[in-house]
Amino acid sequence: MQKPQKERTVVLVKPEGVILGLIGEIISRFEKRGLKIIALKMVWPTKEHIDEHYPSHNAWFQSVGSRTREFFKNKNISAREHFGTDDDIEIGRQIKGWLADHLTSGPVVAFIIEGVHAINVVRKIVGHTYPVEALPGTIRGDFSIDTPSSANVEKRAVKNIVHASGNEAEAKHEIEHWFSPEEIHDYKRADEHVMF
Ligand code: CMP
Repeated sequence: MQKPQKERTVVLVKPEGVILGLIGEIISRFEKRGLKIIALKMVWPTKEHIDEHYPSHNAWFQSVGSRTREFFKNKNISAREHFGTDDDIEIGRQIKGWLADHLTSGPVVAFIIEGVHAINVVRKIVGHTYPVEALPGTIRGDFSIDTPSSANVEKRAVKNIVHASGNEAEAKHEIEHWFSPEEIHDYKRADEHVMF
């Protein structure tokens, strides 16, 4: 079994995070928690690269679509009005198209984080997908306020500052998609014997 402290995940600082000058602040939050940056670069991605970054299977479209529809239902807004459909998969597909436009609008900073249960811990530090729902103290809850109800009227992706891999399968795919093996480094942090 892989050691819990060796789990790896990918974080992207999205174009709005870069132009807001938040790269250092974001990286620092992960480092202070005891997580290790083992690869790092700035990239201006192509549409093809983003298209392959996000999954293209129905389960992913369904999950993004149903969470969006649920959000609208709780706000008493008709999802059909914004998306022209109530079908979760179709809603998820539309959102994926907007994500490609958004993530190719400027450079992003991509890095791999390694550490104790990194996938879950990083998602907690990042906060809820919709900034308006994100708790203070999380990256999204401290630096963003966007909501699907304005993003979807404007037919664009929610500006939530960072992306973090959703689960083990996504992390594995994203590591291979963004980095070559030579770009990933193995080293010991000086405080490891104190932290865990
Ligand atoms: P991310 O963590 O990159 O993974 C999927 C992305 O889809 C998510 O962040 C949001 O940017 C985006 N997203 C999810 N739901 C919506 C929505 N209803 N409208 C626009 N973008 C969305």
